[in-house]
Amino acid sequence: MKDLKIVLRRLVFPYFRGYIPYFLLALLGMLLFSAGTSASAYLVKPVLDEIFVKKDLELLYLLPYAIVFVYFLKGAGKYIQTYYSAYIGQDIIRKIRDRLFEKMMSLDLVFFHKFRSGELISRNVNDVDRIRHVVSTLIPDMVSQGLTALGLLSVVIYQSPKLSFFALIIMPATIIPLQIIGKKLKKISHRSQEKTSDITSKLTEVFTNVEIIKAHAAEQYEHAIFAKQNANFFKLNMKTVRTSELSGPLMETIGAIGVAVVIIIGGKEVIEGTMTVGSFFSFLAALFMLYAPIKRISSLYTKVQDAIAASERIFFVLDQEPTIVSVKNLPLGKINTLAFENVFLKYGEHKALNGVSFEVKKGEKLALVGDSGGGKSSIVNLIVRFFDPTQGAIRLDGVSLSDFNLTALRTSISMVTQRVYIFNDTVAANVAYGKEIDLVRVVQCLEQANASDFVEEMGGVETVLDEHGTNLSGGQRQRIAIARALYVDPQILIFDEATSALDSKSEQKITQAIEAVSKNRITIIIAHRLSTIRQVDKIAVLRHGKIVDMGTEAYLLEHCEEYRRLAGTLAREEEA
Ligand SMILES: Nc1ncnc2c1ncn2[C@@H]1O[C@H](COP(=O)(O)OP(=O)(O)O)[C@@H](O)[C@H]1O
Ligand SMILES: [Mg+2]
Repeated sequence: MKDLKIVLRRLVFPYFRGYIPYFLLALLGMLLFSAGTSASAYLVKPVLDEIFVKKDLELLYLLPYAIVFVYFLKGAGKYIQTYYSAYIGQDIIRKIRDRLFEKMMSLDLVFFHKFRSGELISRNVNDVDRIRHVVSTLIPDMVSQGLTALGLLSVVIYQSPKLSFFALIIMPATIIPLQIIGKKLKKISHRSQEKTSDITSKLTEVFTNVEIIKAHAAEQYEHAIFAKQNANFFKLNMKTVRTSELSGPLMETIGAIGVAVVIIIGGKEVIEGTMTVGSFFSFLAALFMLYAPIKRISSLYTKVQDAIAASERIFFVLDQEPTIVSVKNLPLGKINTLAFENVFLKYGEHKALNGVSFEVKKGEKLALVGDSGGGKSSIVNLIVRFFDPTQGAIRLDGVSLSDFNLTALRTSISMVTQRVYIFNDTVAANVAYGKEIDLVRVVQCLEQANASDFVEEMGGVETVLDEHGTNLSGGQRQRIAIARALYVDPQILIFDEATSALDSKSEQKITQAIEAVSKNRITIIIAHRLSTIRQVDKIAVLRHGKIVDMGTEAYLLEHCEEYRRLAGTLAREEEA
């Protein structure tokens, strides 16, 4: 239960303050419910003794009303308790979910590379829901069932202290096996949550790559993997059922022994006249009714364990701190140069950049070329600070990137990659992504991106694009992406293989667009086609994370063996 304290202290209490009135109402509901339940057990005595044994007519017309009233009280109490507990729980998890999402969004790419998206989804959806369960169901249940058990216990003891003594020794005997079962369930639940996240991950993976799967006719293959995970999940779930469903029958059997003993002893007392029939049945009724809350309370244990496991995973995320932060939070003015000074980058143990130095000025275009894996993307990822260099410095007009306010830095840089995120909204909203829509500016950016023609044909900037941009060709998507990149009027423009997946005609259109928009900006282009590379001011040739040479194309053709080799390969590819 120490873990439960941590959950309460870290997740529940900090959010709880605003809910005191709701909590008091819930508590009132719980009191009504437990009072009603105990009263209904107590009423068995007057009903039997006064009406059935003494045949008291006056009470015959009174007690039935009392019974209806008591049950009404019980029902109303239950409803009030459930409603207000649910309100508190739902609202608290809304806040936790918000905080979790905000936290996740603030974290570095490294975090997202480490965890599969399905797992992250599962944390935000399933794990948070387990916390809700603690707040709206488990805690109120614990209190309400505890109160009810206390009330019923008073009735039991009041009706016959002697019988209670026997009945109550048997009860603890039912608790021990339950504890053992509870421990086992915790282990299984941990694994079951892992398996759920396996399945969610697989589904996300499959649905986001469905084209590739179909193109490879790999449906069967994917199905086989899924079926295996699904079967494992089934086995584990059945293990949960086997273990958890054991507790009910076990308790009932042990309970029945208790009841048998009580009937023998109580029956004797009734026969001998030392106890009234009413007292005995009221006692029995209360004892039977006691079974439900006790069973509930003991089963809460396993559920609480489940929720604790979930909240541990939530804490894990909440405790992560972004490492990419701004040191001095400097604003960003007009910049003139971007410089890499002996920059090294490692991904874990893997060396991606080994001492890269270069400088690009405003109005210049730098192309990065080199074999795949040479470190081109790593260079541009450092500029937007997806990662920070392991060694060396990157500066804008002499100021380290890490000193600038991160948002200011990122809004001054636009990057267009092979992957374009088109969402289900109008062309205008897609271009203005995350910013206020200024239609004049949208049209202007589309024009600069060489995209006005097809947008006009589609019906203008108010045309709604579908989620995956399937009503656009690859080249059109790229041009929307370029328009989006321009919308923020960036000082640095980056194209990372933006045209690699396109045919040469679409590529030409984009190359023209790049040409038009790179004036007065620092532009970095990673491309595979010689025609794109040729129109830049400088080309840096990368190999194994190092710049082997840098200069104009004419210079490189003359002096750089590596460039001639690359250019030869690219030319052959283009012909083919
Ligand atoms: N997120 C990452 N984690 C680990 N290694 C990476 C990551 N991104 C790139 N790498 C590795 O770093 C090297 C440089 O990659 P990259 O910069 O993407 O090259 P390029 O863009 O020139 O193809 C490659 O060996 C690649 O496998
Ligand atoms: Mg790359």
